[in-house]
Amino acid sequence: MNGKLIVIEGLDGSGKATQARALAEALQAQGRDVMQITFPDYASDSSALVKMYLGGQFGSHPDDVNAYAASTFYSVDRFASYKMKWGEFYRKGGIVIADRYTTSNAVHQCSKLPPKQWNAFLDWLFDFEYNKIGIPAPDGVIYLEVDPAVSQALMTGRYQGDEAKKDIHEKDTEYLARSQQAARHCAAALGWVTVACCQAGEMRTIQQIHEDVLRATKEILC
Ligand SMILES: Nc1ncnc2c1ncn2[C@@H]1O[C@H](COP(=O)(O)OP(=O)(O)OP(=O)(O)O)[C@@H](O)[C@H]1O
Ligand SMILES: [Mg+2]
Repeated sequence: MNGKLIVIEGLDGSGKATQARALAEALQAQGRDVMQITFPDYASDSSALVKMYLGGQFGSHPDDVNAYAASTFYSVDRFASYKMKWGEFYRKGGIVIADRYTTSNAVHQCSKLPPKQWNAFLDWLFDFEYNKIGIPAPDGVIYLEVDPAVSQALMTGRYQGDEAKKDIHEKDTEYLARSQQAARHCAAALGWVTVACCQAGEMRTIQQIHEDVLRATKEILC
């Protein structure tokens, strides 16, 4: 009996790691069997191509690597992680909380394509990963929606104001804005649960967002 896979998705710096951790802790406190995973799996060699891509080795602009090629770098990283880290736990009934997943390719790579090609790309992507490669499809996706200007400020704060530490996606504000449009499309088309993380141009508190995430999770798990 397979377990459950819950994905926390959102643009860069939207609070995915923060909310994934809080959710895993809350479920553990309820006595549930929980494993947290995160993508890209930077601790593993399987993220080598992702690191080359984000570091700009194939070009310094996100559009230098097309949506399909870039997606495969992340797909193989997820496959390796499933095989080596969490597949058995999931197949035995555990709850897996993922900070990013295949859904991140949907958000970040659609923005490289004209909107009329998005659905064909999404069909290819989900078929490739969930059917052909054979990693699990999520039981639910929780999309943390933030205003791109707010997430940019959060990331600058995280890097102590050093803009040079941002990767090729994080630096490109126009790319981030297009990614937000793609994310909204995906959320609507694919039934993701949207949690609004900003109010009046500011982040809501971690606890307020957590309560919405927990509510969404209850519906996914029941
Ligand atoms: N609700 C919030 N209010 C204020 N700061 C927050 C909030 N949630 C997260 N942060 C802070 O914002 C930064 C980004 O959060 P986090 O690392 O959880 O985001 P992320 O979506 O995982 O980022 P990335 O996409 O870069 O992996 C961190 O410094 C975190 O402490
Ligand atoms: Mg993160």
